[in-house]
Order: sequence, then C-alpha cells, then structure tokens
Amino acid sequence: MSIAVSEKHEISLEIYKFFADYIYNHSGMTYLEKDYYRLETRLRSLVKLFELKSVNEVFDLYQGSVTPDMHAVLINISTNNETYFFRDIVPFKILTEYLIPNIQETKAVGTINVWSAAASTGQEIYSILMSLSEKYPDLLSKMTFEASDISCEALDKAKLGLYNGLDVQRGLPIAQLMKYFEQLSDENWQVKQEFTRKVNFFKFNLLKEEYPKAKYDIIYCRNVLIYQDMPNKQLIVNKLYASMKPGGYLVLGNGESFIGLETKLKRETFNNLTVYRREP
Ligand SMILES: C[S@@+](CC[C@H](N)C(=O)[O-])C[C@H]1O[C@@H](n2cnc3c(N)ncnc32)[C@H](O)[C@@H]1O
Repeated sequence: MSIAVSEKHEISLEIYKFFADYIYNHSGMTYLEKDYYRLETRLRSLVKLFELKSVNEVFDLYQGSVTPDMHAVLINISTNNETYFFRDIVPFKILTEYLIPNIQETKAVGTINVWSAAASTGQEIYSILMSLSEKYPDLLSKMTFEASDISCEALDKAKLGLYNGLDVQRGLPIAQLMKYFEQLSDENWQVKQEFTRKVNFFKFNLLKEEYPKAKYDIIYCRNVLIYQDMPNKQLIVNKLYASMKPGGYLVLGNGESFIGLETKLKRETFNNLTVYRREP
C-alpha cells in the first residue's frame, strides 16, 4: 500500500488550486481546500486519458492553451452525476397530482413546457415522462420536454437512454421497466424511441448561458444548486425565475431551499415537499 502511494507523486496545493479555480470559474462548482481529496482521482484519470506520466504534466498541459475538448473533459470529470429513476419519489407524485392540475386550472390553452435543467444521465426526464404517460397520456402531445446539463458525457448517455442492469434497478419499478424500455441484452436496457424522441437534449451551463424568457411551465432543477456558492445560487435563481411562465413551477432537490436568497417565487407545499411558483 505504502509503495503504491509513494509511486503516485503528491499533488501540490498549487495544482489543486489551479484546477479548483478553473472548475469554479467555468461551472460554479466549488471544491474548497477541504474537498481537494475529491479532485485527486479525477485529476489522476486525466493522466491516463491524455497518456501522460503525472498530474504535473496535466497541469503543464492546462496552463497552455486549453482546447474545447480539453475543457469539456475537465468539466465532465469534475461533475457529480449521481441520479436515479424516480429519485425521492414525491417530486414525481407532485407532478401529476399537484403541478399539472394547478397549471391546467390557471392556463387557458397552449403547450406545457417542461425543462430538466441539470438532467445528468436522463433518469429525471424519463421519470417525468413515465409519470405523465401513466396519468395524462393524452396530454403528452401538448407538451414539450427539454433536458440539459453542463456535462456532455452525461448528456450523451441521456440522449441514448441506454442503461445497464444496475441503473434500472435503482428506483425503477419492474412494471415501468417492461413498459417503457427495450431489453438489448441481459445487461442493457434502452428507453423506447417514442420517449427518447420526445426530449430535446442540449448542453447548457446554468451559470453562463442565456436563458429563454418566460418559456417554462415546469422546471426541475434538482441537486445542482448544492454545489454552488451563495452569489452563484442567487444568479441562477434569478435566471430560472425569468425563464418561467407566470404560474410556472420550480422543483428543487430534497433538502435544497432558497434560505438566504431573494426571490419573487412563492413557496407552496404538497406532501411535505416545497415547490416554488411564479405568480400566475
Ligand atoms: C447530482 S446531478 C443531479 C441530477 C438530477 N437532477 C437528480 O436530481 O437526480 C447534478 C448535475 O448537475 C450538473 N451541473 C453541475 N454544474 C452545472 C452547471 N453550472 N450547469 C448545468 N449543469 C450543471 C452536473 O453535470 C450533474 O449532472
């Protein structure tokens, strides 16, 4: 064990700080000094990827001109893409039992636009589609679905809708697996094309990109604000607000809240879950 450790060269604080700053400046994700250990394996994976000898060489590489590919790779490895089907359950119950009925009540006609704003590998948007398909099958054709993420690697998987045996065992009821997926092999399952085709997937950095104005009726922006500091959270919340239609809803992750932030969004609670609404 000690040999393995000594073979790996220590990563200096200067290098950790360089990469932590790069990641923060481009994505808002914070790696504080106490979290540098979480960067270690990530940086070591770049050594392999670029076929270099050490993290020092990766550091030298990134101090030169950073190509778009080098940038994307660094952002991909720095993100935490943890997600699973029907994560926390209630956010999907609330969709069919509270959000859709309320939106329908205050809305004359027109499309209902849904955005999964930190979609990771797609389980969230497909859980949304499955929930709606069960309860409101006729509504699907009057809705649009978008899913975005900063990580192109995560998005590639989301677009394909291709999941392994472990993925489909996490949160997905067997009845839904049988109904909405095709089995490709013992190990792999793919979301049926009628669903993958419904979703517009695109790369989107919540911190940097320009948001469409007053477009969305429902935004799921879950388990991403926790990685942002307060000024960046405030920035994102303001942009999300402006991108919501009057009467639109914003769903955050369990345990995420707007404490300490200013927003015109109003809190509403259903089944102990707080969601945020732009006034109709
Ligand atoms: C932990 S996952 C959450 C996935 C899903 N929303 C859920 O709750 O299961 C967080 C996602 O946020 C993405 N992310 C992090 N910073 C981002 C940013 N600045 N803009 C857009 N997406 C970002 C990551 O790539 C990652 O896929």
